[in-house]
Amino acid sequence: MIEAISKNFFLAVSQSKPLNKAARKWGLRFGAAQVVAGDTVSSAINKVKELNNKGLCCTLDHLGEFVFSKEEATAATNYCIQTLHAIAEAKVESNLSVKMTQLGLDIDYDFCLNNMRRIVSTAKQYNNFVRIDMEDSARTQVTLDLLAELRKDYDNVGTVIQAYLYRSEQDVKDLKGIPLRLVKGAYKEPQQVAFQDKQAVDENYLTLIKTHLLNGTYTAIASHDHNIIQQVKEFVKKENIPNSQFEFQMLYGFRNELQQTLVQEGYKVRVYVPFGDDWFGYFMRRLAERPQNVAFAFKGFFGA
Ligand code: FDA
Repeated sequence: MIEAISKNFFLAVSQSKPLNKAARKWGLRFGAAQVVAGDTVSSAINKVKELNNKGLCCTLDHLGEFVFSKEEATAATNYCIQTLHAIAEAKVESNLSVKMTQLGLDIDYDFCLNNMRRIVSTAKQYNNFVRIDMEDSARTQVTLDLLAELRKDYDNVGTVIQAYLYRSEQDVKDLKGIPLRLVKGAYKEPQQVAFQDKQAVDENYLTLIKTHLLNGTYTAIASHDHNIIQQVKEFVKKENIPNSQFEFQMLYGFRNELQQTLVQEGYKVRVYVPFGDDWFGYFMRRLAERPQNVAFAFKGFFGA
């Protein structure tokens, strides 16, 4: 009950435009630095180097919320391209994750597609990969349409499928051959489109993972859930699926010991490394997922 209230509270706060705007001026606060890798691309690249040295590969995400103008979307696109150049220059092991709303999806579909073409073609020059993060269910179909357009010309782009959506089982079947990151899902969705029960989400999550792996397609299992990870390990062993066909992914600052254990066991682990001054919404969504994190947020607030 308290967990549900706190989840709803943090999800609501994450969407507050005044707070998101104000937070840009505050700098990383309330413990956010534990889960956001600095506010510039160079600070993020330094974190990526540290993670690479521990055997972890990365995906960089330049944080950005509430993009309403083409100018803002173009600036976000340019920043993504700059990040790809920085990854190549620093010779670090990282790809890029992007959100379509940041690139103008809510403004104009063709404009957003064109922005993505610029990013994916830059990545292609460097033999790098771009992952389209999945946002709320109102944008699922349009994101998949955009992916289909891009895949006509580029093989270095993939997306994310969320286990809480009823539609996802069919989506994973339709996306056979396309590298997917599979997640449980982070947004608040109505029961018309999404499972509300944790157990149902977990069951569907395992179904999606097994389907995509058995289809022979590269699969990223993005979860901090040790039970899911254990079941994936047992499944790939039983089905003789090679370690080269999948990777585990976790967020920067979460379950560092588990990340390290998986690396030592010979699995590929990728850390999702968010950075930038627009950190507030991301941080609030992480608190919504795991209210235990509130403790460190308040510790940060009081300067402990
Ligand atoms: P969940 O939160 O269900 O936790 C299950 C159990 O795992 C807990 O009960 C606890 O026992 C253990 N656990 C979890 N976190 C722990 C911690 N920090 N410390 C100790 N134990 C812990 N979502 C989305 O909608 N679109 C997207 O594009 C993405 N992208 C993405 C990338 C990456 C790399 C990750 C890891 C996640 C996402 N997500 C996402 C978020 C995802 O949908 C989901 O909301 C969160 O990962 C939370 O679900 P989990 O599977 O991690 O476990």
